[in-house]
Amino acid sequence: MKVVKNISEIQRICLDYKRAGKIIGLVPTMGYLHEGHLSLVREAKKRCDTVIVSIFVNPIQFGKGEDYDIYPRDLGRDIELLTEEKADILFAPSVREMYPEGYSTFVEVEGEITSKMCGASRPGHFRGVTTVVSKLFNICLPDYAFFGQKDAQQVTIIEKMARELNFPIEIVRVPIVREEDGLAMSSRNVYLAPEERREALVLYQSLQHALKLIKSGERDVPRIKREMEEMIKSRPRAEIDYIEIVRAEDLAYIDKIEGRVLVALAVRIGKTRLIDNLLVEV
Ligand code: PAF
Repeated sequence: MKVVKNISEIQRICLDYKRAGKIIGLVPTMGYLHEGHLSLVREAKKRCDTVIVSIFVNPIQFGKGEDYDIYPRDLGRDIELLTEEKADILFAPSVREMYPEGYSTFVEVEGEITSKMCGASRPGHFRGVTTVVSKLFNICLPDYAFFGQKDAQQVTIIEKMARELNFPIEIVRVPIVREEDGLAMSSRNVYLAPEERREALVLYQSLQHALKLIKSGERDVPRIKREMEEMIKSRPRAEIDYIEIVRAEDLAYIDKIEGRVLVALAVRIGKTRLIDNLLVEV
């Protein structure tokens, strides 16, 4: 696997691939890879001739007081994992390379879709995400880009951005990968102390409870949210950031379960903020 740190070099390589008619797949990540990321790489390998994985801990999507400085990083281990998966190129630019002195161009999807849920507790987060993803699209010229369903709001926003800015790129959503007990894989799981790790399971358990209610015919959104809330509040280290049940397509608020819905939540376990979600169709 080739490791490239410079924008002009990767852009030249990608232009050559394009001219040769190769299908390029891009897997954008912030590194500290786990099975969830590797499932994106495997999906990309199935569909594309060339798979580029980017690793870049993007400072502009972290707010003040968030975990940018301590975000887990291990490039050596990531390179080993990506080599095993037979990724073709790792693009790992520095912050200076992506945002040189005086940088001042941003891409923002406006409206409720970015201001609710994770956007409410992390103002500016999605502006940072859409900016870096647009840059990666322009740098790597992918035909397909792969994102995890775990960040359901993120991928919905990126789909909207790609559509509205006419990026000729197909956005592929890849299902959530879970630990054996159900905890969604996340680079942030390493922050959890053993007791917190046990309590973190409540995110998955509350989603399963919502699923059970919906399957048994419950359609009242406030009632389902209330039951999830009670379950989470019974864990001493858990603090709810949000629980939302929204229309899957555009994350619009709903009162009744109908069609494809997304049950999504963010919960702080100790100092660690975790997210998870479930797609249901009735
Ligand atoms: O999901 C992530 O890891 C990041 O938000 C992304 C898409 C790589 C942009 O920095």
